[in-house]
Amino acid sequence: MRILAIESSCDETAAAVVEDGRKVISSVVHSQIAEHRIYGGVVPEIASRRHVEKIDEVVSRALSDAEMTINEVDAIAVTAGPGLIGALLVGVNFAKGLALASGKSLIPVHHIRGHIAANYIASPELEPPFLCLVASGGHSLIVDVKSYTELKVLGRSRDDAAGEAFDKAARSMGLGYPGGVELDKLARQGDETKYKFPKPHVDGAPLDMSFSGIKTSVVNLIHNASQKGEQLDIPSVCAGFEKTVCDALTSRLFEAAEMTGAKTLSVAGGVSANTRLRATLESEAKKRGLKLSLPPLWLTGDNAAMIAAQGYFEYLAGHIAKSDLNAVATLSVEKGAPEDFCV
Ligand code: KG4
Ligand code: ZN
Repeated sequence: MRILAIESSCDETAAAVVEDGRKVISSVVHSQIAEHRIYGGVVPEIASRRHVEKIDEVVSRALSDAEMTINEVDAIAVTAGPGLIGALLVGVNFAKGLALASGKSLIPVHHIRGHIAANYIASPELEPPFLCLVASGGHSLIVDVKSYTELKVLGRSRDDAAGEAFDKAARSMGLGYPGGVELDKLARQGDETKYKFPKPHVDGAPLDMSFSGIKTSVVNLIHNASQKGEQLDIPSVCAGFEKTVCDALTSRLFEAAEMTGAKTLSVAGGVSANTRLRATLESEAKKRGLKLSLPPLWLTGDNAAMIAAQGYFEYLAGHIAKSDLNAVATLSVEKGAPEDFCV
């Protein structure tokens, strides 16, 4: 079964064609990063406008790269939430129009379920149950993927997401946007033991995390140094920050594996591109004899191939959108597809 998917939840306009949830036939991602860079973050209004301008071209290219017409596609999947509402609406409305005009089924997909499904493309043999560490710009979760469409959140960040902490810490150090990538690069040249940061733990909730304390700690360190005219070793600040955040994420995942007896682990979301996180996950999983799915870098950030992958399994579970499908800014990963809009 071939699914054409559309993703527009944040600052990437993306479309892809994927067969049976695993085999990518085409994938097109148009990133708006360059345009948002001067503002130091995503400007929702600009994001929506650019999606409107680009979506037709991106979807057409995904079909032409796949050497297919819309008639050769079996169904259409679209990110229905969570994300920036104006941005999501562009993809949802475009997909609704296309589904109606072509007579294809429309499948609503949860953005984070899509990130997790990137692992089905990366690791063709991977099947639930497994645990997934989700670390993106908006979410930090430990998820028990019980089946393709039945997910349980075992742990979460109580405040900022890991990616948000990376971006805000990077911004306070005057690094470029998006901050996570820049911080990752600088951390490679730093001494991780030089600066200490508070651990992101939550009393009484071993799988939950809190990243606002460490973010504030970096901001204060930078502010106090500049007030005193002191020079900080920025690569070492990056290395210490990165170590604290990555240790918190990895330790939660392995703790969850111990608690549940899970033997297969995976990782998803933009932060899973982080050099240190990937290396630590690989070595720790090996040490413990656990299987690990680590998506390649192009599948860690936002793309539509992952939406098509999850769309396939949502379709098999009978999650088809009604004609009044709407986008939703917040949506629980456990609930998945917005039920009110499904047949
Ligand atoms: O999953 P994603 O592309 O978008 C959301 O759904 O939020 O994640 C974006 C986040 C940003 O916060 C970005 O700074 C972070 O992923 N990120 C990284 C790296 N690459 C992207 N964080 C740390 N190290 C990286 N190499
Ligand atoms: Zn994302």
